[in-house]
Amino acid sequence: MKPEGNRAHHACPVWMGHVLLCPFRRLGQNPDKILRPYVSDGMTVLEVGPGMGFFTLPMARMAGPRGKVVCVDTQPRMLDAVRRRAAKAGLADNIDTRTCPSTTLGIVDLAGKVDFVLLFAVAHEVPDTDTLFGEIAQAMKPGARCLVSEPLFHVSARAFDQTLAAALQHGLQVDHCPKIRSSRTAVLKLEMKGLIQRTPRAAQSIKVLDPAQQLPRLT
Ligand SMILES: C[S@@+](CC[C@H](N)C(=O)[O-])C[C@H]1O[C@@H](n2cnc3c(N)ncnc32)[C@H](O)[C@@H]1O
Repeated sequence: MKPEGNRAHHACPVWMGHVLLCPFRRLGQNPDKILRPYVSDGMTVLEVGPGMGFFTLPMARMAGPRGKVVCVDTQPRMLDAVRRRAAKAGLADNIDTRTCPSTTLGIVDLAGKVDFVLLFAVAHEVPDTDTLFGEIAQAMKPGARCLVSEPLFHVSARAFDQTLAAALQHGLQVDHCPKIRSSRTAVLKLEMKGLIQRTPRAAQSIKVLDPAQQLPRLT
């Protein structure tokens, strides 16, 4: 999707990464409360634009030693801080950090493996949300969820709708819109129809239909 409205597209400076770790942020944006409904033991989580890891470490604890959080960010200094903080918290083994250019996440190896995706205060910094959600949809398992949250005073309702529209192009559907302070937020779910249309190879490998979940299992 082309830049429009109040989309900024400049990356958050490193000093802001430190500000975003402020413990007072938890009063309005508590990672445990926000993410507990979506992240559980053994999950593979993709976090785009983790900054210095305000949400990363809590998600790594929720995913536990059998799970992992893959963080992809354009700024190596943000990821250095994530690794330092993860090592200090004893979570280094559950967190994989990857630097990417702003044009692609480069996550082909994660195709069909991700249970949950977090994009917190990052979508407005990404120049091409069409490519972004295309890559995210490819990485998600059928039925996986993606929480997209944008800062209320920085991203207009129109710009947020445009972000969601880009996601919908790739088979994601709005599941619900949880309330998070000072944010515009939506939880998206990967719709099977979209996945099949966009990934014919994956569709070919569907062998078993699980009637309980109405979701095909990829074998
Ligand atoms: C405002 S910070 C948010 C950090 C974190 N999600 C939080 O809420 O504390 C945005 C982050 O997204 C990263 N970012 C910007 N453009 C990106 C892109 N195209 N791909 C991946 N990360 C990007 C920035 O480097 C920065 O770390």
